[in-house]
Amino acid sequence: MKENVLVTGGAGYIGSHTVVELLQCGYGAVVVDNLSNSCEESLKRVGQITGKEVKFYNADVRDKSALDKIFSENKIDWVIHFAGLKAVGESCEKPVEYYDNNLYGTLVLLQAMREHGCKKIVFSSSATVYGDPEVLPLTEECATGGTTNPYGTSKYFQEIMLTDVYKADNEWTVALLRYFNPVGAHESGLIGEDPKGIPNNLTPYIAKVAIGELKEIGVFGNDYPTPDGTGVRDYIHVVDLAKGHVSAIDCIEKSGVYIYNLGTGKGYSVLEVIHAFEKACGHSLPYSIKPRRSGDIAACYADPSKAKHELKWEAKSGIDEMCKSLWNWQSKNPNGYKK
Ligand code: UD1
Repeated sequence: MKENVLVTGGAGYIGSHTVVELLQCGYGAVVVDNLSNSCEESLKRVGQITGKEVKFYNADVRDKSALDKIFSENKIDWVIHFAGLKAVGESCEKPVEYYDNNLYGTLVLLQAMREHGCKKIVFSSSATVYGDPEVLPLTEECATGGTTNPYGTSKYFQEIMLTDVYKADNEWTVALLRYFNPVGAHESGLIGEDPKGIPNNLTPYIAKVAIGELKEIGVFGNDYPTPDGTGVRDYIHVVDLAKGHVSAIDCIEKSGVYIYNLGTGKGYSVLEVIHAFEKACGHSLPYSIKPRRSGDIAACYADPSKAKHELKWEAKSGIDEMCKSLWNWQSKNPNGYKK
């Protein structure tokens, strides 16, 4: 077996897909998750896909004694840190909960890692740290900050905290992976995104309209300075994204702070995504134009060339495959992981 990886938030959407890729590439994986927005069933399905059992701890990363137990019982070489809250709107209503989970959680994790001599971490960051982009495509050198909600600010602060940890102790390896818009599901249709309540993000919302659970898609604004007036984003297949984490662990050999955009480099508008999904599900989808959503930007897409050169990683799937895999998951699991 290659190195052993502790995956925080490993039962969640991106976490579970990453655990699959780690196991299939010969890494060991231990998962810690408090199941606040995920369920253990996802890990059972990871087991089904990979034929390997995942060691799971039902615990919160803010629980130092739980982390001590995990690090004592397992030899951990790397941590991939996904655990955290992630809903933009909710973060504006509950900033204290967001900073507590995301910032305090990361601090407790860093203390445990330091005490147990594990100094290699991959952090789940977001393109949200760039705020409203000054230029497109976004390179890793673009300015960060100017975030507009506590969720985004927590990602920005966590990047700073991790960078400071390296500055104080050059033995640390810190990889900050800035995700663009993860969508889609594993090709098996066994794992995917399972949002609680009405989805905030575009593609899970479309999927629920496609199965008839929601009536119509609201397109938030058609007067943006984009080709068709609707918002443009860099959607990336969640399996490509998951593979980016494995590439980071494969390729980063020396200590330091490494920052990578994980995106495809190509932007799609809201209408283009709706039409791609119509092709995938085989029927037309009702939508109507609504006012702009506050805090939204016109366009956001990555320059992914740094990850391509340094991590030998590149996103492979286009929007059609992303929609096809999401429809496969949604139609096979209309209620998500619930029976
Ligand atoms: C959002 C978060 C971002 C986070 C990312 C995770 C905001 C402002 N940003 O990005 O911080 O990292 O999710 O995936 O929420 N849209 C509609 N109708 C809908 C939903 C969305 O037209 O019902 C449009 C939006 O206006 C946007 C695009 O679809 O143009 C994508 O929206 P969404 O999926 O929510 O992602 P982001 O806003 O890009």
